[in-house]
Amino acid sequence: VRLAETTPQHRLTAIAQGELAIASGKVAMVLVAGGQGTRLGFDLPKGMYPIGPVSGRTLFQMHVDSLRGAMRRFGVSIPLLVMTGPSTHEPTVRYFQENANLGLKPQELIIFQQGTMPAIDATTGKILMESTSSIALSPDGHGGIVRALAKTGWLDRAQDQGIEHLFYAQVDNPLVRACDPLLIGLHRLGQSQATTQVVEKRFATEKVGNVVNLDGKTQIIEYSDLPEEVAKQTNPDGSLRLWAGNIAVHVFDIEFLKRSCQSSDALPFHRAHKAVPYVDDQGNDCIPSGPNAIKLERFVFDLLPAADRALVVEARACEAFAPVKNAIGSPTDSPETCKAALVDLHRRWLTDAGVKLDEGCLVEIHPNWAWDEHEVQTRLDKPTQIHADTYFT
Ligand code: UTP
Repeated sequence: VRLAETTPQHRLTAIAQGELAIASGKVAMVLVAGGQGTRLGFDLPKGMYPIGPVSGRTLFQMHVDSLRGAMRRFGVSIPLLVMTGPSTHEPTVRYFQENANLGLKPQELIIFQQGTMPAIDATTGKILMESTSSIALSPDGHGGIVRALAKTGWLDRAQDQGIEHLFYAQVDNPLVRACDPLLIGLHRLGQSQATTQVVEKRFATEKVGNVVNLDGKTQIIEYSDLPEEVAKQTNPDGSLRLWAGNIAVHVFDIEFLKRSCQSSDALPFHRAHKAVPYVDDQGNDCIPSGPNAIKLERFVFDLLPAADRALVVEARACEAFAPVKNAIGSPTDSPETCKAALVDLHRRWLTDAGVKLDEGCLVEIHPNWAWDEHEVQTRLDKPTQIHADTYFT
């Protein structure tokens, strides 16, 4: 579904469908928060990274607040599943415990851990050892969610409770709107089993997954697997043929996930060439100076081609995607670029509602004050001017 091809009426119908599904308890949310966050270089789980431009709220808080905003708005309890990895599990559990589950009721929060795979020596093909008595293991990729979810038994319980859809997001993208009603509505109207939100690529060779239609199946080709000449192909009007960049926001049907869980090889493994510390045959600790190992990871988007019906929905990057991937000071996908995107979005919401904002002042809107741009309008009954950094809460 391309933005330019939808009419306001179509969007309103879809939003109404999505809102109805959420309000009737048909939707749950999952945040993937495993992985190792190597590029960010932060000692704690990524979800604990402070990102609120004015508030300093963590990534976990941003997501939970957005979800609680949806609960308030639609008068319903929405379960949140958080997938952790071996290095993020303990600290994540502790973080939620020490912070009263960030306001979630105990029955609304399920934290479960993804699996691991051994790291393999890239030259010898042997499994690397982490110590003389243990092998080097790493998380099995966000696609590990399929097996890990199956183990929890949650999918069956969810179905018993009438939950039909799982809204999927990554912890490192705080711009995502929890349980986006438009996306869920389009998913339902299109009778899709797996829907993915995309943004238009900024340039042909941008480092994102390319969402393509191959032999009638929706698939994602990682930028690293896409030949440059294919990436640069254009339509007669000059637009990119492969325009859709994956932002890892999906809606999956619970029934479809259950079916996927039944097949142990539902998702293939991808190889990633990475640096992995190890001990050698003599028991010496070795810190490689470059990639020495093959890690095996599953990617959740490989579920898309297995769906009988899959849908691809375009969103504006400025409204849906600002990931925290790289360390402070990096030109792209850094904490600074993410904070700037949050401020820009909220400045726009306020400006559209008639607020006058001084140049350069930071604003941040807590979802309890306004969950979306429409609620901002209802909050302001007199002309407002903002001269200093402001947290609307
Ligand atoms: P990335 O692929 O960006 O990996 O994950 P990462 O671990 O966060 O960071 P790098 O690559 O080491 O720098 C995208 C999302 O998928 C989750 C991450 O938590 C992030 O939200 N993820 C990734 C998992 O949950 N498990 C994994 O095995 C990998």
